[in-house]
Amino acid sequence: MMGELQMDDYSQYAALCECGMRIVLARVENLRQEATISGERSPYAAIQIRIKSFDSIEEKCNRKGLPFTIEGMRKLHDIAGIRIITLYEDDIYRIRDALVRQPSMELIEERDYVKNPKENGYRSLHLIVSMHVYFCETTKSVPVEIQIRTKAMDLWASVEHDCNYKNDTPSAEAPKMFAEIARILEDFDSNAMRIRDASIGSSN
Ligand code: GTP
Ligand code: MG
Repeated sequence: MMGELQMDDYSQYAALCECGMRIVLARVENLRQEATISGERSPYAAIQIRIKSFDSIEEKCNRKGLPFTIEGMRKLHDIAGIRIITLYEDDIYRIRDALVRQPSMELIEERDYVKNPKENGYRSLHLIVSMHVYFCETTKSVPVEIQIRTKAMDLWASVEHDCNYKNDTPSAEAPKMFAEIARILEDFDSNAMRIRDASIGSSN
């Protein structure tokens, strides 16, 4: 039997995951640079990174019925996370493809909540990749979660997260409103691509 997760074990594993995340971040920044040099419109609007805190790990282990131990922590695939925000919906798949075709980056899970939105209206493309990390004179593989979404998807998720996590008594009509806003933003995303393509056509 293993004891409850200690801060030292968390710090060590989180540092390892952070190494993996920084490799992914460097690759994403290289792709962004490539887009800048090519002179084409860059699909990268923003890039964010985060490491899951000790307390969030405890909360998630409890929520998922995992033991709050080293083993439980290692079952979580989102200790290190990187979020890429795009202007247009099809940019999501451009970025996805550019990332997964790179060597030494194994795709271990993919959830497409863009094509299959969650019941509540949440949309984003989630990838879990496994990265080899050279750290403290050994090689280990760590998972990194990559979320790719448009600004509109990000707006929805940020507000929904804020309302549901900070509000103990969300209003009864909140789920309906979020579903409705999700539909509006979905329309917005498809219309934005249409307008973009139409304006490219008419400028020639
Ligand atoms: P979590 O335990 O929430 O991490 O879910 P999961 O590990 O089973 O995977 P999933 O792909 O469903 O969600 C991973 C992450 O996507 C979450 O940690 C959030 O950052 C984001 N996410 C998923 N669903 C929602 C949602 O309904 N609302 C918001 N705001 N974010 C979501
Ligand atoms: Mg998560």
